[in-house]
Amino acid sequence: MSSARVLVSLGVPDAALRVLEAAGLTSSRPPGAAPPDLDGAEAWLCLLTDRVDRARLEGAPGLRIVANMAVGTDNVDLEAAADLGVAVSNTPDVLTDATADLAMGLLLAVARALPQHDRYVRAGAFTGWTPTLGVGLDVTGQTLGIVGAGRIGRAVAERARGFSMQVLLHSRDAGTPLDELLERSDFVSLHVPLTPDTRHLIGAAELARMRSNAVLINTARGPVIDEHALVEALRAGQIAGAGLDVFEDEPRLAPGLAELPNVVLCPHLGSATLATRDRMAEIAARNIVECLAGRPLLTPVRHRAEAGERG
Ligand code: DGY
Repeated sequence: MSSARVLVSLGVPDAALRVLEAAGLTSSRPPGAAPPDLDGAEAWLCLLTDRVDRARLEGAPGLRIVANMAVGTDNVDLEAAADLGVAVSNTPDVLTDATADLAMGLLLAVARALPQHDRYVRAGAFTGWTPTLGVGLDVTGQTLGIVGAGRIGRAVAERARGFSMQVLLHSRDAGTPLDELLERSDFVSLHVPLTPDTRHLIGAAELARMRSNAVLINTARGPVIDEHALVEALRAGQIAGAGLDVFEDEPRLAPGLAELPNVVLCPHLGSATLATRDRMAEIAARNIVECLAGRPLLTPVRHRAEAGERG
């Protein structure tokens, strides 16, 4: 039985605790929602809402691994972790389908204004069918521009082909150039990680390139879009609508966003299915088990410089 101290953030599903326990690792949860005390911790199973910055890492000299229960790691200072010799892991693959499903759900919801029509019926406003009632945008056969050709972007492309959509893919080094994709797409869905390169990837200039009938979907990270510019573009009718699962200053919304009639908003639900969340928790815990046993991580995240990627 190891005495390694594993800190598990509040809210992590119990599936993680079962994995740790089976490996003989002792774990504890912080008593409250405040940033947990890492003193003496060898591993931290954290959430994307935990800010893992240099100061936190420097204040935890015994820490060997930060296992983030998310595929995105923008909440972790990867450079500091690399400098201090702290391993970092994430949870790719297991949430690909759930997130791609939500992106398609948002796309359909915006195109056909489903939440708005649900409210309309509940309010008793439906007094009879007419040919012009609630008409929306076509999806089948339209052009979908996918920004970011990683696992989730490709999974969205697969779903879109089921709707006979023409798919344009843009990635950092290949595919359709971003400007061309924005100009040609009826729907644009974002699937890039948040990095210094992708912060405000979609700003006023990019929104101005989009078609007036176009819809923007974001299930990636909020700061990929300049949310103030988006509010202006939606107000001005520069684009037709947006479906957002993530926000620039989450959980706060840019002023005016919630009042717009042509947006559908979700509270960061991309991976929110029971099975997916359990699998994320399990993978995070299994990375901790491997790390503390001195074995390679299952899903390591390396600092970009270490990984040899473009800075
Ligand atoms: C992630 O894993 O990065 C998602 O945003 C959480 O679902």
